[in-house]
Formats: sequence, structure tokens, C-alpha cells
Amino acid sequence: MDSYRHDSHYGHNEHKPSRGQHWQTDAGAFVRESFRQNNFWLRIMQEHALFIRLGLPCDETALIREAEKLEELFRGLRAELRRLPHKEEAFRCFNDEVIRALGKIIDYKSTVLKRLITCNLGGSSLPLLIDHIRREAIRFRVILLRLQNGIKVPVAEQALQEEIFWLRIMGEHAHFIAHLLDPSERPLVSQSLRFADNFETLRLQAKDLESMEVPRTFENWLLPEKLAGCPLPPGFGDLPGPLLIPRLVRFNEEVIDLTKEIRDFKEVALQLIEACQVLSIIPPLLADHVLREAEMALEDLRIVGRKISNHDHLRQDGRESKDHLN
Ligand SMILES: [Fe+2]
Ligand SMILES: [Fe+2]
Repeated sequence: MDSYRHDSHYGHNEHKPSRGQHWQTDAGAFVRESFRQNNFWLRIMQEHALFIRLGLPCDETALIREAEKLEELFRGLRAELRRLPHKEEAFRCFNDEVIRALGKIIDYKSTVLKRLITCNLGGSSLPLLIDHIRREAIRFRVILLRLQNGIKVPVAEQALQEEIFWLRIMGEHAHFIAHLLDPSERPLVSQSLRFADNFETLRLQAKDLESMEVPRTFENWLLPEKLAGCPLPPGFGDLPGPLLIPRLVRFNEEVIDLTKEIRDFKEVALQLIEACQVLSIIPPLLADHVLREAEMALEDLRIVGRKISNHDHLRQDGRESKDHLN
């Protein structure tokens, strides 16, 4: 099963590359993107270890100790990143080191989640919160693995992946905020739940668009997970490639608009928490953490928005040949 294909143009279903074919990015873009991702996510990973530790029962000393070691590991990687020369070779080694560290934190989050969902762990962390932060770690690792292996995702598929990931994350933040506010903060709880609903609606729309434009993701979903990445019998994967349509440009704008709204809401929440003007069990660092994630979401969504808009110009200028259009 080949999951990676060339960038597509409007209405043009790209051809399948030969097995294992990769596309190298240029060195400057590789270094810039490696820095951007590590600079944001390493701090987030360090904070995840702290949040898990704070939510553990005080007699879970082995899990507490393990969380402290992970905080130390990611603190060290952040210090190393600050000293790292902005050179391709340096980032190739560094990314590998981070990928190994992510393996450790993903295993740790998996252990905690398994104990929570089998009712073998107390404390104050919700299972969906641990799943949420494990998903953030899994996506960060995939981003680095793509960079290390020069794997490019077609722009329509990439846009939907970014949107579906961030819509779910932002909707869950809204749910977590609603749960952690004191119930007496009625208008703020209602406002958080409205955000969660609005994100959920957009996420369902994104899934509709995904099955229209990237049908192979639906077929992949029907495969048993143990077959993921294995060679498949003929017939599998025999579907049209990703299709970029103008509707995606408008959809990206809708996602950005809602994300801006929750970003502003989180900023106000952080100010209220810091000034002790709201009743909640949200630590200021958690409020700041989810605000930073909204800012990263906006950055990612704008980057992918520019990519799909550039394709739009190509089409409107009529520079793309007709035989690329169905
Ligand atoms: Fe996070
Ligand atoms: Fe998050």
C-alpha cells in the first residue's frame, strides 16, 4: 500500500509512485520546518509530562518518577535545540534524537491511558485528555518522520489532515475547559460547550470533504490495523487520488475563523485565571498551553491555506493545461 503521492492539481488525480519512492525537500525548508516544529512541540511535550504527574495519585511513585524523567528529557532537548546550528546535518541527528524521546513519552502516555481505561488508576486525569496528548505526540513524531524521509503529502490531503487534527484538538480543549471551570461559572461553561459543538460540526464537515476528495482514507480505515503499511492484494488502493477543489479554500477560512475565536476566548480565560477572577481548577500553565496550541493551529492552517490558494490562482489564470482538469 503506497500512502504517499505527488502533489495534486485541481481535478487531476495523481499517478501512483513506485513503491518506496520519496521526495527530498530542499535543505533550507527542511531546517526551517524542523526548527518550527521542535521549537513548539518540545515545550508542549515537557508540559504534558508535568500535567500527567500533577494528575496522578500521590502513592503512584513509579509513574511520578517516570514523568519527572520525561520532563527532564524534554527540558534537555529544548536546551540542545537552542544551541543547535541551523544546518541540515545537525537537524537530521537532532530529529532522530527527538523521535526516540517521543517513543518514550508515547509509551508512557499509553501505559497511563491503559490503566485509566481499565479502571486501574485513580487521580484527576480524564482518559480523553491522555488520549488527546498522546495524539499530539503521535502527530509530532509523524511530522518529524516525514521530514527525515522526505515524504510529501498531496496538498488536498494535507489540508484535510491538518484541519481534522486541529478541529478535534480545539473542540476537546473547549470540552476540557468546560469540565475544569467551576459549575457556578455558568455563562463561561455554556460558552465553552458552544465552542465544542461548533468545532464538532466543522470536523464532521471535514470528514465529509475527506471522503469526497481523498477516498483512499476511507478504504484504509476499513483495514485491520495490523495490516497498515503491509503490501496488500491487488484491488486495494485502486481509487482516485486526492482531489483539490475550490470549496477547500473556503473551508480552510471557516476553520481559521473559528480557531481565531477560541484563541481570543483562551486569552481572556488566561487573563482571568492569572488575576484570580474566575473559579476553576485550571492552572495558569494549562491555560497558557492551550492558548499556544491555538496559535500553532492558526499558523499551520494559514500555511496550508496559502498552499491551496496558490493552486486556486493557477486554475483561475488558466495556466494549468486543460488535460489536468476532469
Ligand atoms: Fe497539549
Ligand atoms: Fe491540546
